[in-house]
Amino acid sequence: MGEGMMEPLLEVRNLTVNFDGFKALDGMNLRLMPSSVRVLIGPNGAGKSTLCDAIIGRVRATSGSVIFQGKEITALPEYEIVRRGICRKFQTPGVLENLTVGENLALSARRHRECWRSFGWSLSGEARMRAEETLELIGLQEKRNQLAGELSHGQKQWLEIGMVVASDADLLLLDEPAAGMSHGESTQTAELIRRLSLRHSFLVIDHDMTFVAQLDAPVSVMHMGRMLTEGTLEEVRKDPQVAAVYLGRIKEVTDACA
Ligand SMILES: Nc1ncnc2c1ncn2[C@@H]1O[C@H](COP(=O)(O)OP(=O)(O)OP(=O)(O)O)[C@@H](O)[C@H]1O
Ligand SMILES: [Mg+2]
Repeated sequence: MGEGMMEPLLEVRNLTVNFDGFKALDGMNLRLMPSSVRVLIGPNGAGKSTLCDAIIGRVRATSGSVIFQGKEITALPEYEIVRRGICRKFQTPGVLENLTVGENLALSARRHRECWRSFGWSLSGEARMRAEETLELIGLQEKRNQLAGELSHGQKQWLEIGMVVASDADLLLLDEPAAGMSHGESTQTAELIRRLSLRHSFLVIDHDMTFVAQLDAPVSVMHMGRMLTEGTLEEVRKDPQVAAVYLGRIKEVTDACA
């Protein structure tokens, strides 16, 4: 099947979100394909975080629609959207610090919630296998029995990405996942996202153009609640419209591509 015939995983159509008369989203459009990475950039206040909130059902759209796996999800409650396979990860890690790395992963294996209920905290064989597989993916095998609270900031972020992956989400919305990370950690985070994108799709918001370049993925630029332009980082960098909205910040984009 040709690329053009593939059905998008997510489609945002003409989405508008109105906060007391202010349009944080104003006719936003976006299409994401399965097993892909998309970067979303744009100046402060462009509406990037609001877009994620609207996709996951945390803020309500005034008009327009969100279609996920061919089904309208616009008016669904957040828990139902999460159940269907979208997950939003915040900048602050949401790991349970008093549980071990392995326990955190096992807990998030979505398919086995029923098992937890019937067997208390003990793990089913399949959930254990899943947790083990994810540990390997995020490179924390050696830390399996360590308390999550003892991990470094970067490791906590990877654990949280791993938890989302273990939950079997199809689409991960990552809002500034590399914020507060060292250069080495953000390089590893970009690699992790690229590796995981063989099985999951990612919408990644970030201001750090070095990190964005490392993701090596198509870039969408938002401005004033709508899509300004899309393309490779190189194409976007050359776009005079992008230069205009970023003003001083365009230097970062240029530097990252130099
Ligand atoms: N709950 C809210 N009520 C009113 N206005 C809001 C609310 N949430 C966001 N806004 C406004 O909507 C606009 C878009 O905000 P949003 O947080 O989506 O921008 P962003 O692109 O994520 O910016 P940043 O890069 O700084 O994170 C901003 O002007 C913001 O002040
Ligand atoms: Mg934001």
